Formats: sequence, structure tokens, C-alpha cells
Amino acid sequence: MKTKVKNICCIGAGYVGGPTMAVIAQKNPDIKVTVVDINAERIAAWNHNDLDQLPIYEPGLDDVVLEARNRNLFFSTDVDAAIDAADMIFISVNTPTKTYGKGKGMAADLKYIELCARQIAKVAKTDKIVVEKSTLPVRTAQTIKSILQNTGNGVKFQILSNPEFLAEGTAVQDLMAPDRVLIGGEQTELGMKAIAALVDVYSSWVPIENILTTNLWSSELSKLTANAFLAQRVSSINALSELCEVTGADVDEVANAIGKDSRIGPKFLKSSVGFGGSCFQKDILNLVYIAKSYGLNEVADYWEQVIIMNDYQKHRFAAKIIQTLYNTISGKKIAFLGWAFKKDTNDTRESAAIYVADQLIEEQANIVVYDPKVTAQQMQSDLNYLNTRSETENETFLTTIVDPYETCKDAHAIAVLTEWDEFKAYDWQRIYEAMQKPAFVFDGRGVLDHEQLRTIGFQVYAIGK
Ligand code: UDX
Ligand code: UDX
Ligand code: ADP
Repeated sequence: MKTKVKNICCIGAGYVGGPTMAVIAQKNPDIKVTVVDINAERIAAWNHNDLDQLPIYEPGLDDVVLEARNRNLFFSTDVDAAIDAADMIFISVNTPTKTYGKGKGMAADLKYIELCARQIAKVAKTDKIVVEKSTLPVRTAQTIKSILQNTGNGVKFQILSNPEFLAEGTAVQDLMAPDRVLIGGEQTELGMKAIAALVDVYSSWVPIENILTTNLWSSELSKLTANAFLAQRVSSINALSELCEVTGADVDEVANAIGKDSRIGPKFLKSSVGFGGSCFQKDILNLVYIAKSYGLNEVADYWEQVIIMNDYQKHRFAAKIIQTLYNTISGKKIAFLGWAFKKDTNDTRESAAIYVADQLIEEQANIVVYDPKVTAQQMQSDLNYLNTRSETENETFLTTIVDPYETCKDAHAIAVLTEWDEFKAYDWQRIYEAMQKPAFVFDGRGVLDHEQLRTIGFQVYAIGK
């Protein structure tokens, strides 16, 4: 007999938990979904009447929240009550790279996951299905299981792995029509029953042939592998971008030509200033750490190279700016268009902009940033997180202006760090006239019309051209 899920709790109301639960609730009006978080401010924002105040920006998310919220979708800080009432619990808390101790800078920090497992163990009075939603190192399910199985109160738990493949900026679209949903579980009778219960939740809107079921470890490893492969494509094309610059090939032409090969495919071949985001680097470092921990050094080195290439690309872009501006940028105003790690999101985690800014500030440049969705406070906190210099110095060297034309006024150079669509539509003649001459543009995203800019009078540098 199949278990029908009636009450879902999700621990963690972040970029993954929030949108995923909103869509699950919208598509399953008969299931009560409660998203909990220890961050009261975040929960208040999810409950805000003004949908512009939701804690994360995702196109289309407001409509989904509007439809389901307070119908069968609830946001709360009462973690214990939600755990107690649920028959299925998603763990969707953050798993940052460790910043201390063994595996520092490489391994995932499972502190928050373990805290969740312990809290579930403490509170649960009835049997639960626990679903790992956060990206986790392979065999984390084992950790969660051993905590949950030793409570001694007779409550039974089934652990599932259900990695999320949504990309930020297209979260709602990706959730509505996922390429696949992946569910891993124990290959026992109870494990299969738990898998079936989760398949049932997704099959409300996802065609059954797109719901894959595997054993736990395959599911956990597939998530890391998918992100590693995607990141590897970006690093591969970025490695080629430098070769294009010195040989006279054009990286977009090369990408287009190879992308027509159906074995390669056209996606994820856009050369850039470097990939960012909360997942790619973290997941590869994780993969590297796991490989090393099994003594697979060649495997570890192979994947680590993807990160090394990405760091190099950010560094190379900053160095190009310094060199082009006559090797002296001290006191010069450099305008940044974009700070988010990609367009259509306010997320800045691991954004290339942070590292490029840091390197330019080392040369005492004045960085002035415009980003349509990122707050000045966020930019300062990103820079402070690197710990390169004092917070006061960061405030002096990095400022934010909410108007792009003001941002570019009197600048010696403009650097495009995010591919926001609006940048293409600006009045570039007007921007040119208000800048210092020669007026330089460094297009780190390959989004602007370089011919048009050159006709206006700009000196243009674009990656891979
Ligand atoms: C290759 C390119 O495919 C072709 O476009 C180019 O013009 C010449 O080089 P070829 O060497 O004939 O063609 O064979 P291919 O099918 O690409 O296989 C190359 C090797 O990779 C083989 O040893 C094959 O067994 C191996 N391979 C291929 C794998 O091990 N796994 C795969 O998934 C695919
Ligand atoms: C990624 C995966 O795509 C998603 O499946 C997973 O669930 C989480 O990690 P995300 O980090 O939101 O999603 O964004 P993604 O679109 O993958 O972009 C990652 C970074 O790579 C961005 O900085 C983006 O600008 C960069 N990128 C992407 C390129 O530089 N070139 C490309 O061709 C594609
Ligand atoms: P992701 O991108 O994986 O969704 P986020 O950092 O956006 O990551 O979200 C994770 C959320 O999990 C944060 O809002 C954080 O406050 C919350 N969180 C972390 N640990 C706990 C916990 N033990 N109980 C409840 N919420 C937690």
C-alpha cells in the first residue's frame, strides 16, 4: 500500500527551499506545506503582503506564492511544531564549504544538516520520511540515518535523496518543467514505499517518465556530477577564450561551431569572466575532497583544474583592465555594471564581480557599482567576507549608485560583470560623452554590441575576441 503524503515540512527557506516548496504547494492543493527557518527576518519577508519584499527575486515566483500562500503554503519560525505535524520533512539548509578544521576550503560543512537531523530526532513522535534537498557529499544520508536511528523512541525514519537541479533566475520555470526529477532511496520494501510517496507528490505535474528513481548514493553523486560537468564546460570554453584572443579566432564563433555537434550541444558554452553561484565551486571542491579521501588523486586533480581555470579567468580579466589602463588605476573611477553572479537574480554568492573588484581595489581603484537587484549593503558584505582589508577601506573604495548613467559618469572604464538585459538597451552615446577619454569598455559577459560601441568611440575589450 502506498503512503499518501498529507503534511510536508521544509527546513530552510532559502533559494532552494522557498521556490521548491511554493511550487509543490501550488501543484498539490491537498498537501499542507510549511516552510520553516530559524531566520525570523527571512520568514517575515516570505510572509510580506508586498510581494516585492520576498527574500529572493525569481521571475514568476510572486504569482506562485500569491496563489498558494495561506491556502496550503505557510512560512513559520516554529520549527518543532512543523516537524511534529509533518509526515515528510525536506532538509534544505545551507551546506557551505568548510572554513575551519579538517577539509577546510574543500569539504562541505554539514553542521547545519546535522543540527536538523538532531532536531528531527528530538521532536518526532510519529514515523517520517526525511528528504535531503540540499546538495550533499555522497553518503551524507548515512550520517542523517545514524542520528535518526539512534533516538531509542521507536520512531521509524526513511531517508531519501532528492537533489534540486533548478538554476537561479529560472527557478520557477525549472521547477514547473524539470528535465528530470531524481529520487534516491534504499532498495528495501520500506525504502521503495518512501520513494513512491515522493514520486506521488511530483507526479501531480511532472510526467512520470521524467521522474527517475535510483539508489541513495547514485542520487547524491549525480547532483555533484551534474554541477561538475556544467562548470567544466564553462571552464573549457573559458580556457579556449584566451587562446582565441592570441590567435585571432572568435570564441563565440568557435562555441557556435562546436555546439552544432549534437554530441556536444549548444548550451553552457558562453565564455565569461568566470562562473559564480553557490553551487559550482562548492560542489566541485566537494567532489575533489571525496576523491582525495578515497585516495583517487588523479580524479581529484582532474576536477580541481576546473576551479583553477575559473580563478585564473577572473584574475586575467582584472589584470587586463589594469594593464590596458596604462598599469595605473590608483584613484581612477571604474564603473561596474552588474554584481550578481548572473542575470535575473539578486544572489551574489561567489560572483566573479567580488574577486575582480577586490583585485582592482588592491591597486587603489575607485569602484562604483550599479546592479538592478543587489543592495549596496550586500556588496560591502561580499567584499568584507574576503577579509583582504578593513571594512572602512572597502567602504571608501567601493560605492554603489542606483542609476547606471551616474555610475558611468566620469569613469575611465566600464566593466560588465553580469549579463543583465537592460545593459544592451542603454544610450551608449550618452554614456560615452560623460566619460573620461579614452573611454574603455571591458565586456566580461559578451553582451554588448561591440561594433556599435567602437563606432561611438569606445575602446572595447571583450573576452575571447
Ligand atoms: C572522432 C570524432 O568523433 C570525429 O568527429 C572526428 O572527426 C574524428 O575523431 P573517431 O575517433 O572515429 O571520431 O571515433 P569516436 O566515436 O569519436 O570515438 C573515439 C574514442 O572514444 C573511441 O575509442 C571510443 O570508444 C571512445 N568513446 C567514445 C568512449 O570511450 N566513450 C564514449 O562515450 C564515446
Ligand atoms: C547551477 C546549475 O545550473 C543548477 O542545475 C544547480 O541546481 C545549481 O547550480 P546556478 O548556479 O543557479 O545553477 O546558475 P547557472 O545558470 O548554472 O550559472 C552558473 C554560473 O555559470 C553563472 O555565473 C553563469 O554566469 C556562468 N555561466 C553559465 C557561464 O559563464 N557561461 C555559460 O555558458 C553558462
Ligand atoms: P540554499 O541556496 O541551499 O537554499 P540558503 O542559504 O539560501 O541556501 O538557505 C538556507 C536556509 O536554511 C537559511 O535561510 C538558513 O537560515 C536556514 N537554516 C539553516 N540551518 C537551519 C536550522 N537548523 N533550522 C532551520 N533553518 C535553518
